[in-house]
Amino acid sequence: MPHSDNIYELRPVAIARSLPQIRDHRLFQLQLKDGTSWEAFGHQPGQFVEISIFGQGEAPISISSPPTRLDYLELCVRRAGKVTSALFELEKGATLHVRGPYGRGFPVDKLKGHKLLLIAGGLGLAPLRSLLLYALDRRQEFDDVVLMYGTNNPANVLFKYELLSFFDRKDIKYFYSVDRDDEGLWKQYVGLVTGLLDRTTLSPSDTFAVLCGPPIMYRFVIQKLVALGFDTEHIYVSLERMMKCGVGKCGHCTIGDKYCCVDGPVFAYPEVVNIKEAI
Ligand SMILES: Cc1cc2nc3c(=O)[nH]c(=O)nc-3n(C[C@H](O)[C@H](O)[C@H](O)COP(=O)(O)OP(=O)(O)OC[C@H]3O[C@@H](n4cnc5c(N)ncnc54)[C@H](O)[C@@H]3O)c2cc1C
Ligand code: FES
Repeated sequence: MPHSDNIYELRPVAIARSLPQIRDHRLFQLQLKDGTSWEAFGHQPGQFVEISIFGQGEAPISISSPPTRLDYLELCVRRAGKVTSALFELEKGATLHVRGPYGRGFPVDKLKGHKLLLIAGGLGLAPLRSLLLYALDRRQEFDDVVLMYGTNNPANVLFKYELLSFFDRKDIKYFYSVDRDDEGLWKQYVGLVTGLLDRTTLSPSDTFAVLCGPPIMYRFVIQKLVALGFDTEHIYVSLERMMKCGVGKCGHCTIGDKYCCVDGPVFAYPEVVNIKEAI
C-alpha cells in the first residue's frame, strides 16, 4: 500500500537511467526525489505503480525490480500510446511521478519452501522478473526455480544479458523459446512457449506455476499444466485490464465481479476460471 494515508499520493521520482532493451521497450531506473529509500515504499513482486506525467496522464506499469534490490525502482516499459511515449521522451534526471504500490502481487509467503515454475511470454517477463530476482536473492527460501520464457523472435528477448548470466548459475533451470527464427540464429527451442513444458521433468504436486504473458498464452499453458497433473490451486496468473484509478474506485478494470487493480493483478487460477472474459 502507499506509504501515507493518502492512497493517491504522488511521489516525485527522477530517471536515474533509461536503458534501451529491444525496439520500443526501455528499462527505467527511478530514484525517489525526496531522498528516502524505496524500502519504505514496501512493494511486493507482482504489484504495479501508476506513472504520472503531468499534462499527459497516467498509466499502470508493473514493478520489475524485487524488494530485495532497493537502489532503484525498475519499470520495463513498452512505448504504447500517450503516456509511455511521453516517458520515452524524458531524459536522465527528468522528473515524473509515481503512485502506489498497488494491487495484489504474487503470494510470496505461500510460494516459499516450494518449487517455482515461472512462465513468461513477451513483456510478461517484466512483472515476473521481480519475483524471479526475489527468489534468486533469497534462494535458500525456495526449492527449485525454473524459468520458461518465450518471445516471438530472437530480436525481442527482454533482459537478454540477465538471462544469459543464468548460464553461470547452478541454482536455476531456464528454458527459452522463440516462435520463429527466420535467420536460423537461435540455439534453443523454436516453437511456442508451451513446447518448453515437454523439455523438462516437473513435479506438479510441490510446484507452483506462475504465469504472465499475452492472453492467448494462458489458455494453452494452463491446459498443458493441468494435463501434466498440476492442481489449479497451484497456478497463478497475472492479468491486465484498462485501468484509471488503480485503487478500486472507478470500475474501469472489472473482471466479472472483481477489480483487476485491487483483487489482482495476480489471481489464483480458480478465482477466475469461471469468469468467461477473464482469460
Ligand atoms: C497491472 C498492469 C501492469 C502493466 N504493466 C506494464 C509494464 O510493466 N510495462 C508496460 O509497458 N505496460 C504495462 N501495462 C500496460 C500499460 O499500462 C498500457 O500499455 C497503457 O495503456 C500505456 O499507456 P499509454 O498512455 O502510453 O498508452 P495509451 O494511449 O493508453 O495506448 C494504449 C494502446 O491503445 C492504442 N491507442 C492509443 N491511442 C489510440 C488511438 N487514438 N487509436 C487507436 N489506438 C490507440 C495504442 O496503440 C496502444 O496499443 C500494464 C497494465 C496493467 C493493467
Ligand atoms: S482501475 Fe479503477 S477500479 Fe480498478
